[in-house]
Amino acid sequence: MSEDGGPALRIDVVSIFPDYLAALDLSLIGKARDDGLLDVRVHDLRDFTHDRHRTVDDTPYGGGAGMVMKAQPWAEALDHVVAQRGSNLADARPHLVVPGPGGAPFTQAMARQLAHEPWLAFACGRYEGIDERVYEHARETLGLEVSVVSLGDYVLNGGEVAVLAMVEAIGRLVPGVIGNAESLVEESHEDGLLEYPLYTKPREWNGRQVPPILLSGNHAAIAAWRHEQRLARTAARRPDLLHASHGDGEVEIAAATPSDVPELNVLFKACWVQEALLNDTLDIPALTEGLDDVRASLDTTQTWVARKGGRLVGAVRTSRLGDDWHIGRLCVVPDLRGRGLGRRLLEHAEATAPDGIRTISLDTGALSTDNLRMYRKSGYRVVPDAPDVPAGAVHLTKRPGR
Ligand code: ADE
Repeated sequence: MSEDGGPALRIDVVSIFPDYLAALDLSLIGKARDDGLLDVRVHDLRDFTHDRHRTVDDTPYGGGAGMVMKAQPWAEALDHVVAQRGSNLADARPHLVVPGPGGAPFTQAMARQLAHEPWLAFACGRYEGIDERVYEHARETLGLEVSVVSLGDYVLNGGEVAVLAMVEAIGRLVPGVIGNAESLVEESHEDGLLEYPLYTKPREWNGRQVPPILLSGNHAAIAAWRHEQRLARTAARRPDLLHASHGDGEVEIAAATPSDVPELNVLFKACWVQEALLNDTLDIPALTEGLDDVRASLDTTQTWVARKGGRLVGAVRTSRLGDDWHIGRLCVVPDLRGRGLGRRLLEHAEATAPDGIRTISLDTGALSTDNLRMYRKSGYRVVPDAPDVPAGAVHLTKRPGR
């Protein structure tokens, strides 16, 4: 639901085959529609024609094979969609997405961006494509943002199949559509690696065993095994997704400089978004601050960055408060966790504590069990009822050298 109680996302689809889109009544997207989370409306392009044959195409100027979709029905259809703005959409206009093999590649990142829009309109082209003046009308007369988007490097007969795929990928990211938001974070592509292999009961099937590590109950070993599997799969199937940072190269830790600020800002967002999901709030400084805040923090703290293969893969910052050495913003990119990098950054931050320090302290999310486990192993203990601890966090301390 949006804040005003209306659907979180309105989707209009214009097609000459509206029945093709009937699949949007099914499964999770169908349920999200029933639950009022998605408002999906399908329009028949032929309803905007005025001749007996309901003509939507004609031969191309300049010659060439095939037919081109006419500007007039498309313009009228888009005018109609825009005019049907519900009261919950205030002065919003739809972002027009036109599927086509000549578009920008549709990715998980694009799905995530589009899931944040209040209103999307999809124009399903057929034949060779749509008269170019329709795009101009949409941009210049209707003031729409227009994106041509491709599902992949192959040619479909029309945009309908692409719209089904895109609406599913976008719709499932709308809050509430998938019950367990954490399951979204752990998926293929969400952090740049493919998913690890999955197994369920029975333990032995047709003489094939579940890998014994998954039955060991050793969570750290299971996480390490899954990470290796993800890397191996990504290397085998999608080597284009792997970066040098996934190899065996050295991690170098260095003092942050202003040129690190843009990457640091992105790193903080990538790391704290999981904290936001756990705590069901976006009101976390690492998420709300901008480039200027990160730049300013380089003057008030000592910030360290870890790089591997040139990529920023982690960070930590320290500051002195009296005789306390405070460690903050300890973070590792999601796809390289569970490999000791967080521990290395923590030890680095501890090792830089000046003489005369009596305590080393840090705060972490009360629900961040992996972090809490690492800090306990490193000798930190939770201080109950510590003052000035942000909501949802706990304060931990230890003595230097322990
Ligand atoms: N229409 C035709 N081919 C397409 C593709 N590859 N992606 C999206 N829409 C299309």
